[in-house]
Amino acid sequence: MTGKSKQKVLITCALPYVNNVPHIGNIAGSHLPADIFARFCRLAGHETVFIGGSDEHGTPIEVSAEKLGVDPQTLCDQYYRVHKEIYDWLLISYDNFSRTSLPIHHETTQEFFRKVYENGYVVEGTLRLPSCEKCGRVLPDRYVEGTCPKCGYEGARGDQCEKCSSMLNPGDLRSPRCAICGSAPVFKDIKHLFLSLDKLEARLKEWIEGNRDVWSPQVVNMALGWIHEGLKPRSITRDIKWGVKVPLEGFEDRVFYVWFDAPIGYVSSTKEWAQKIGKPEEWRRFWQEEDAKIFHFIGKDNIPFHTIFWPGMLMANGEFTLPYRVAGLQYLNYEGDKISKSRGFGIFCENLSRTGTSPDIWRYYLTLLIPETGDTEWKWREFQERVNKELVANLGNFVYRTLSFTMKNFDGRVPGAELSGRDRELLERGKRYAEEVGNLIWDIRLRDALKKVFELSDEGNRYFQENEPWKAVKEDPERAAACLHVCANLCYDLAVLLSPFLPESAERICAQLGMEVGTLEDVGQARVEAGQELRDVRPLFPKLDDKKIAELREITSSVTEYEEMFKVEEEYVSYEEFKRLDLRTAEVLEAGPVEGADKLLKLKIRVGGKEKQLVAGLAPYYRPEELVGKTIVVVNNLKPAKLRGEVSEGMLLAAVDGKKVALLTPDKDVKSGSKVE
Ligand code: MF3
Ligand code: ZN
Repeated sequence: MTGKSKQKVLITCALPYVNNVPHIGNIAGSHLPADIFARFCRLAGHETVFIGGSDEHGTPIEVSAEKLGVDPQTLCDQYYRVHKEIYDWLLISYDNFSRTSLPIHHETTQEFFRKVYENGYVVEGTLRLPSCEKCGRVLPDRYVEGTCPKCGYEGARGDQCEKCSSMLNPGDLRSPRCAICGSAPVFKDIKHLFLSLDKLEARLKEWIEGNRDVWSPQVVNMALGWIHEGLKPRSITRDIKWGVKVPLEGFEDRVFYVWFDAPIGYVSSTKEWAQKIGKPEEWRRFWQEEDAKIFHFIGKDNIPFHTIFWPGMLMANGEFTLPYRVAGLQYLNYEGDKISKSRGFGIFCENLSRTGTSPDIWRYYLTLLIPETGDTEWKWREFQERVNKELVANLGNFVYRTLSFTMKNFDGRVPGAELSGRDRELLERGKRYAEEVGNLIWDIRLRDALKKVFELSDEGNRYFQENEPWKAVKEDPERAAACLHVCANLCYDLAVLLSPFLPESAERICAQLGMEVGTLEDVGQARVEAGQELRDVRPLFPKLDDKKIAELREITSSVTEYEEMFKVEEEYVSYEEFKRLDLRTAEVLEAGPVEGADKLLKLKIRVGGKEKQLVAGLAPYYRPEELVGKTIVVVNNLKPAKLRGEVSEGMLLAAVDGKKVALLTPDKDVKSGSKVE
């Protein structure tokens, strides 16, 4: 099966935990490839739904919230917004970006579980759970560290080994220690529920082997490796409060293990999408019909969960379509090392919207860095070079020279002309590209697909060069016209082919052509007709000079800690709070010094019918006689206080500009005691 016939495609991107802000590694490692794929599927006319959402449960969230002194829901509400803004800025075209804390997800998870339970795939058992006596707490899986029993890596975590990606239980680790204080944990037996992966082993094996034609060998081999070691029942409940409640007698105070509820989030997000479009049953077409193709885009640490645990859950439930393809991506590094937030080493996406750049320059380089087959590395030098050489000098130059030449020499209208064989050949060239690019994308070879599109831009530039329209326009105007006609069409074809990768630029190119971005079927069809009027022609991308790169580097490496990111919120004053201040105009009746305090002045004021005394630090700025007769603004209901033995029954307002202090006075005559609001 290829991507050619019309398909029904559901695309998911690993649901990010929202106790943190994404960095470029997260973007290149799942959101961006999933988006390119989804945009391409829409372009190719496949019935496409691209869903995502936030993974809000689990210990990492609970622990982060605890550390910050907020409740987990607040933490997730705040970070959810930040995540959403970042994906929007980067033009990640989610059809729905849901949240696992929503009721729809809790219900979906519980219903999913009931079916698995009825089908006999849930067993009770005891889990030897670690607790740290020194820290006085049951330790979440990932808070136990030790030596991996499979590969011997010493820094393995109780849920997974980072080195070999094996799924672990804390009890599997050799020489376990508490990740918080380092002391040895004590293991106690606690009753829990387990998913009988052991019963599914044979089916999973067969299914994984049957996917060899579609999955990458890396993913197949990893999955088979774990199967080979034998699957054991895997615990699916936890003793924490934050999560989806287990709907089973005797387990009411437990929640599901986050890796049980999170992937069900794909289903709930699809359900939510269906409700939003007003067709609440529509989700079933993607999850419960054989011909639907489900693509999961995930990072490599998520591979076991998506090739074994999640498909096992789906098999145990029995009512769902199994994934069609699991695209497991590797990691993106940064300037020779791992991205590290604590060292401020990397590009942190909350800063991108402050760079004043187009999202496409980031999307462009990040696409070339999608870690499809191995880890990749962001290098600023290379970013600058690629943007300048490829986006600016190749694509940007081709489009701009074509369109500006047409503006200047053909009155801003795409010329028509007698076409030669070579012209025609090029006019139709896009068809072949559409097919090749389509195949590469369907195969999730996104980098190669993007490079392929740029070959068409190369061809365009060469053709323009060969035809020398700047000369031909005088010597052989028909030739120049033919060349520009073909080039305008190549610009359009390029825009359509680039639209999954560089959506903003694709729109801009088409807008300059006075057209809209079409579909894959429009490529190579000479859609730009003679006489088409161009609009607002201008270069697509500015060149990035060293200074700009330094600036971008500076802006994007800044790490915004939680307090700083959300403090603005706390600094807001509600209208209700503001209204509690009784601000009034007052007339100054008398003013004089305060004994023993050379900075203070004592004022007698009248607020409406009432006389009051104020003490204010005005002596350095005003002589007493300057004040008498003025109408000023005071906080009338400030709690009275004594200053140097003198009572002050309010506070006057003044603007302070360094050493300059100016009293606020109304700019029209108003009566004393007027409300200021
Ligand atoms: N939150 C997990 C992570 O960041 C990924 C969850 S993917 C899903 O590693 F399958 F659970 F949705
Ligand atoms: Zn401890």
